[in-house]
Amino acid sequence: MRLATLTSGGDCPGLNAVIRGIVRTASAEYGSTVVGYQDGWVGLMEDRRVDLYDDAFIDSILLRGGTILGTGRLHPDKFKAGLDTIKENLADAEVDALIAIGGEGTLKGAKWLSDNGIPVVGVPKTIDNDVAATDYTFGFDTAVSVATDAIDRLHTTAESHNRILIVEVMGRHVGWIALHAGMAGGAHYTVIPEEPFDIADICKAMERRFQMGEKYGIVVVAEGAIPKEGTMDGGLGEEDEFGHITFNGMGQIVADEIKKRLGYDVRTTVLGHIQRGGTPTAYDRVLATRYGVHAARAAHNNNFDTCVALHGENIELVPLESAIAQLKTVPEHRYTTAKAMFG
Ligand code: F6P
Repeated sequence: MRLATLTSGGDCPGLNAVIRGIVRTASAEYGSTVVGYQDGWVGLMEDRRVDLYDDAFIDSILLRGGTILGTGRLHPDKFKAGLDTIKENLADAEVDALIAIGGEGTLKGAKWLSDNGIPVVGVPKTIDNDVAATDYTFGFDTAVSVATDAIDRLHTTAESHNRILIVEVMGRHVGWIALHAGMAGGAHYTVIPEEPFDIADICKAMERRFQMGEKYGIVVVAEGAIPKEGTMDGGLGEEDEFGHITFNGMGQIVADEIKKRLGYDVRTTVLGHIQRGGTPTAYDRVLATRYGVHAARAAHNNNFDTCVALHGENIELVPLESAIAQLKTVPEHRYTTAKAMFG
């Protein structure tokens, strides 16, 4: 058998561990070869491919962040218009099955190819951890570790200066990174997209800390968080060409409002892409490797139109359809538990 793989959408620590898992399993368990398309769907359409061998290089990429194949985004209309080219390119490279590694948008594309006759297996990827079909996506644990480390460091400088420090973390539609990093880092308040916040509640919690003598505060703000209607100005931006909402810097907006209302010294740290870069944690390396191994096996067993997923301790196959059906948002009870530690 000859497999093809590609990584598409935002990069994520652990992508290379998946590629390594696919290549080594295909070679060692089935004697198969693997070709990698560069820069996501764009490389598949432009027929930019590299042969991936079960060699010392592939073995060495386990620890490397990013993706050795490169990644990119392609507008769904351009993608769909290229179906014939995609089919020709896969036939030309004698590919029997495609393993697509990506988030919601990529898996939607993978499902569409599958519905149009291409044998596809999906691997869910996103630091946001928002794919409902799986308990965890790789990259999330790394992002939480990076954010937690930053929050740990911000405690000491905030305390020394009697400041309130706002930490803005990634989280477009869901607040998993904010929730976990906020709890692990002992933040004094955390706001997530799922639960519109009232700035008065944040101010109350901060004021109480100053009155009690703990004269500093750490507030974690997910980039996609929004204020409750009528409580303060500021919200999300417009949609970009891919339908992604743009952000207006909610961390800074919250900081300005706290400063205006309480008069304390408030500063903002935006962690941004630092959360996505660098070497994956041990947890993410293991999860990503397991996804790669199981995706290669699924392809060899002709289990197409599926996606690998973590359920409890096990990697299982779910229909691709279910992987794109809905976002995994933070349930109310998880936020209520986090709230017990606010203030
Ligand atoms: O979906 C993953 C993610 O890192 C989001 O948390 C974030 O909003 C987005 O990608 C950023 O995308 P880009 O790298 O295109 O700015």
